[in-house]
Amino acid sequence: MTRQRYAQISGWGMYVPPDIVSNEAFVKLGLETSDEWISSRTGISRRHVVSDETTSDMAVRASVEALRVAEMHPGEIDLVLVATCTPDHIMPATASLVQDRIGAKSAGAMDVNAACAGFVYALTAGAAHIESGRAKNVLVVGADELSMHLDWKDRGTCVLFGDGAGAVVLKAADEPGVLDSTTGSDGSGAGLLTIPGITRQRRNNGGSNGAGGYSVADSYLRMNGPQIFRWATQMMAKAAEKVIAGSGLRPADIDLYIPHQANFRIMEATARRLGLPLEKVFSNVQDYGNTSAASIPIALCEAIASGRIKIGDNIVLTSFGAGLSWAALAMRWGAAIPTHVSRWKPIKNTVETRMAAVRSAVRRGEWRVRSELDKRLGRDDD
Ligand code: ACO
Repeated sequence: MTRQRYAQISGWGMYVPPDIVSNEAFVKLGLETSDEWISSRTGISRRHVVSDETTSDMAVRASVEALRVAEMHPGEIDLVLVATCTPDHIMPATASLVQDRIGAKSAGAMDVNAACAGFVYALTAGAAHIESGRAKNVLVVGADELSMHLDWKDRGTCVLFGDGAGAVVLKAADEPGVLDSTTGSDGSGAGLLTIPGITRQRRNNGGSNGAGGYSVADSYLRMNGPQIFRWATQMMAKAAEKVIAGSGLRPADIDLYIPHQANFRIMEATARRLGLPLEKVFSNVQDYGNTSAASIPIALCEAIASGRIKIGDNIVLTSFGAGLSWAALAMRWGAAIPTHVSRWKPIKNTVETRMAAVRSAVRRGEWRVRSELDKRLGRDDD
């Protein structure tokens, strides 16, 4: 009898850029808003924004951390999936840049663009590769720098988003693992949330030879917030119900619910529909805003770091975003957890946390692997 193969998360990492923009900073910049409005309508207090880094830079840092936690050499990775709607280039894929920089020499690489829903889409694709036997180890990354596409004069959007990256290593295992997942799309809502972007605008403005230009405004994110809000609360609950039932579970069996971190009121409304108490809902939107495809892996990292996840826990992830698109996934937190995990803390790239991580890595004897990876990244602090 062939044994069922499952995909388990065995490593995780996150990275956010060092610059923090508080709600008050928008007021100081002259935007007609207030800390009170932003925090009461969204739950957001601050967000990290990139200055000189790109999506691939952040993705690489989160990936290196995930490999370290999984105690896996990059050469063991079969596939690198990067969920992003803000790639470094239209081509090559950001995943190819990550694959090269982490030294995943045996891996295929591709990007997944389902906007904020991208990470759960990519996790589903990675798990399917493992369950079908096509891969043993898959690196799944969610990374976005939406700050590059914000109109900083549009108070309805610019206060909502932040930048960052999160990554997980999925590994083949005999025990669950991912239990069930679902993905969906309704392209009739494409205009509700869009960065109209480059190719179509160039053709429209430039005629049939496509030689015309596009304005800066074409690269701004535009959104119908209230309509997205109403749709998201319904869709997140429906998608979660589907994977909970598909896993043979009831809502009461869920130990932790990690929704896309866009707006705390959306998370509350979804939890209410699912009949989940708020203690079972993880949120860190206050510190990061909506980091798009990075929001769920960053939340997962912080849930682990704060002791909210134990072996055997049933966890549900749900996400929604431009497309419109959505995805949900149910998993049982598996056994493939290295022993040093209880001491793991997310690296936020302040000098203090970086040095503390270096010191403790040296103490734990992990420095050799780490410095090898650091060398690939061009870090020279060893
Ligand atoms: N500060 C002060 N006032 C504001 C601000 C602000 N930052 N933004 C909007 N307002 C004003 C509006 O102009 C409006 O004023 P008016 O009544 O005089 O016209 C009033 O506040 C109410 O605006 P609404 O848009 O109705 O406010 P709402 O309570 O719906 O909150 C929000 C807006 C926060 C955008 C909400 O609709 C929301 O979170 N929607 C979901 C958005 C989302 O999650 N998008 C991410 C999708 S994921 C992805 O793929 C990227």
